[in-house]
Amino acid sequence: MSTRMVITTKINGEPIEFLADSRDSLLEALRERIGLRGAKEGCNNGNCGACAVILNGRLTNSCCVMAAEVEGAEITTIEGIASPEALHPIQQAFLEEAALQCGICTPGFIVATKALLDENPHPTEDEARFWLAGNLCRCTGYDKIIRAVLKSADEMAK
Ligand code: FES
Ligand code: FES
Repeated sequence: MSTRMVITTKINGEPIEFLADSRDSLLEALRERIGLRGAKEGCNNGNCGACAVILNGRLTNSCCVMAAEVEGAEITTIEGIASPEALHPIQQAFLEEAALQCGICTPGFIVATKALLDENPHPTEDEARFWLAGNLCRCTGYDKIIRAVLKSADEMAK
């Protein structure tokens, strides 16, 4: 049996109220109830990182969180990374390093990189690889992705 519930939260800086089913994951609520389809469903079991969001400052797989759990939370999704004027330096670096090949894994990598650089603005290559170990790219474009992460850290430090 499921019930409907109103959830009040803040997404990408905007207060928002939405109606969710008690069985909805946060990923389902973002995509199907709120219309933010940037977070992707890859595995739906916490293994690929395609659904990554930043939830109360922590990198989180939104497929593994129930929508009901985010009452009062602050969430950043891929839609909140760029400003209206320009791409975020992380997105720009991914473009310049050709670190994107598909639309499934890329939002998760960008969000995970944002969470990394929020916590550690100057990661080593090993630290970046370790942090992104929870994000899978089926085309194995990891070298380009790591180059983009390190480049964006350099750009943001300027
Ligand atoms: S869809 Fe959430 S971790 Fe893969
Ligand atoms: S670029 Fe998306 S799975 Fe490899």
